[in-house]
Amino acid sequence: MNRRRRIYEGKAKILYEGPEPGTLVQHFKDDATAFNAKKHEVIDGKGVLNNRISEYIFQNLNDIGVPTHFLRRLNMREQLIREVEIIPLEIVVRNVAAGSLSTRLGIEEGTQLPRSIIEFYYKNDALGDPMVSEEHVTAFGWAAPQEIDDIMSLAIRVNDFLSGLFLGAGIRLVDFKMECGRLWENEMVRIVVADEISPDSCRLWDMKTNEKMDKDRFRRDLGGLVEAYSEVAKRLGILSESDNPVAKSGPTLVKG
Ligand code: TMP
Repeated sequence: MNRRRRIYEGKAKILYEGPEPGTLVQHFKDDATAFNAKKHEVIDGKGVLNNRISEYIFQNLNDIGVPTHFLRRLNMREQLIREVEIIPLEIVVRNVAAGSLSTRLGIEEGTQLPRSIIEFYYKNDALGDPMVSEEHVTAFGWAAPQEIDDIMSLAIRVNDFLSGLFLGAGIRLVDFKMECGRLWENEMVRIVVADEISPDSCRLWDMKTNEKMDKDRFRRDLGGLVEAYSEVAKRLGILSESDNPVAKSGPTLVKG
């Protein structure tokens, strides 16, 4: 029986009231959705892997001084986070052309971009998360100009950190999506990285084979999603080599 108060349920996660004021519990579900939830499947083990991969990334970001909402992992599917006011934007950083950028501008997937590009999408399922400009963001009051500056600096730091992290694991960071929130601390507000960063929200290609190791395996019906996410976790040193990623009990995780 789950007696905790549910604050919010999204497509892949649930937020529960946390043990102390100002905290929440972020629960990772096994649900996979794409194309604004028109496509939906439950993929055994995905939530466990994303919880662990996102924990690893957010803990490292905290350790290098990039502020995030993450406090600690609680169990296989849950982490303790600080309660923030989510800014209604999906911030996408791209290093290599793929997905909607390739479609929109006719650039072949895999083309290295002249520099990293940051895009904003308005988080609104009914509208299908449309791309917006800074003008829209400030005019409609979704974020103030200073907050946009802070978000862009965070996005660049996260991109640099993630690119290096994945490079060391033989993986190319093609693009990723992040979200930010406002954290109140003694009358002060600051922007922190929130939500999750996992193979659900990144494009990750094997450096040698260009094999996709992210949610495009589900979006494009390629199969082998849990195997690919397990491989990402293994290469980051989160899963041990001998663990069977698709064992009945779900992935065995190295204690951390
Ligand atoms: P896109 O090429 O479809 O615009 O996606 C860019 C990046 O953002 C890619 O890494 C996948 C991620 N993403 C999400 O995390 N959630 C979404 O709803 C969408 C559309 C993309």
